[in-house]
Amino acid sequence: MLPFTRPTLDTEEFEAIKEVLQSGWLATGPKVAAFEAALADYIGGGVQVRVFNSGTSALEAVLLAYGIGPGDEVIVPAMSFVASANVIVRCGAAPKFVDVDLVSRNIDVDAVAAAITANTKAIIPVHFAGRAVELDAIYRLAERHKLLVLEDAAQAIGTQYNGRRIGSSGNPVCFSFHPNKNITTIEGGALALNDPALLKKIEGIRFHGIERDQQGGMDVPAWGGKMNMPDVGAALGLVQLKKLDGFNRKRRALVQRYLQQLPKHDALVLPADVDGHSWHMFCILLDWDKLGLNRNQALEALKQQAIAAGIHYPAMHLFSLYRQYGYKPGDFPNAERIGEQTLTLPLFPGMEDKDVDQVCSAIVSLLNRA
Ligand SMILES: Cc1ncc(COP(=O)(O)O)c(C=O)c1O
Repeated sequence: MLPFTRPTLDTEEFEAIKEVLQSGWLATGPKVAAFEAALADYIGGGVQVRVFNSGTSALEAVLLAYGIGPGDEVIVPAMSFVASANVIVRCGAAPKFVDVDLVSRNIDVDAVAAAITANTKAIIPVHFAGRAVELDAIYRLAERHKLLVLEDAAQAIGTQYNGRRIGSSGNPVCFSFHPNKNITTIEGGALALNDPALLKKIEGIRFHGIERDQQGGMDVPAWGGKMNMPDVGAALGLVQLKKLDGFNRKRRALVQRYLQQLPKHDALVLPADVDGHSWHMFCILLDWDKLGLNRNQALEALKQQAIAAGIHYPAMHLFSLYRQYGYKPGDFPNAERIGEQTLTLPLFPGMEDKDVDQVCSAIVSLLNRA
């Protein structure tokens, strides 16, 4: 079975993990420090990096550190993994969903501008599937309204915007290293930021609020949680990070093959290959009405040919949690259409050209039914 994604691991990763297991120091320690330094170096722009036990924790820690809470609204696209909205609820604030573009699946600055109210405190743009959001316009808007921008770059390690890596601007940007991401630490995440005072606060939120003095004395001036990354994950991340640019080049080559082979068809919407894309996922839209079949039948037809496709994602505002905030079908037509029509085709560095060819011919068979 060809999965829609699979982590790319070999003996170097296994040896790195073995070394940590044998060292006797498994939790946060020297590998975490080395991974943070390596990530800061990779991202560039002089930013500092702090790693976490998940991308979700990194996002939560930033919102908490900036004091986002009850009474506040945070603008977020209706199309993302649900973590992007759940972190807002976790802080006691309310998500304010906006629609996305049908092809890029990213938020559009006009939709964001229209959603700003007197209670808006922050915007969380999501770099969907590794494609950079048009950040210049978002930051200009945020500056005008004095809003925090927290970039959800969970899917965008290695993505570039205007020739610079996502995360290098100095504003808060969070990444995920979950096993289906472009590099993995098993579970894990990171924050890139260039603000020493906030980083100190975030370090407290990350680990029990603990502050240590030079003599090893300990104080807890404020609440903190338990969001630290273990050294086992960091050791894996150090090896994966060295391979990231190669992984992303392979992803792009596979995508180009997909784009060459998939036909133009009025029941099919393809993603676009833009500069700087890190191609975390290759997501298409299929118009089930035009094809005369539903998504489960399509998934079953692909399964018959040993292909597992994914669904990224159902529109978030239609989950029962978010309907409680008053959202309903019809609010965000593009996010809803994506939620209903999307399929994620297999894409990971371990794939071969013949795998892409096999998926393309399976999709062409579906299209030929129309
Ligand atoms: C867009 C987005 N945001 C946030 C997250 C959360 O990351 P993690 O799973 O590392 O907590 C993910 C992970 O899938 C994601 O895709």
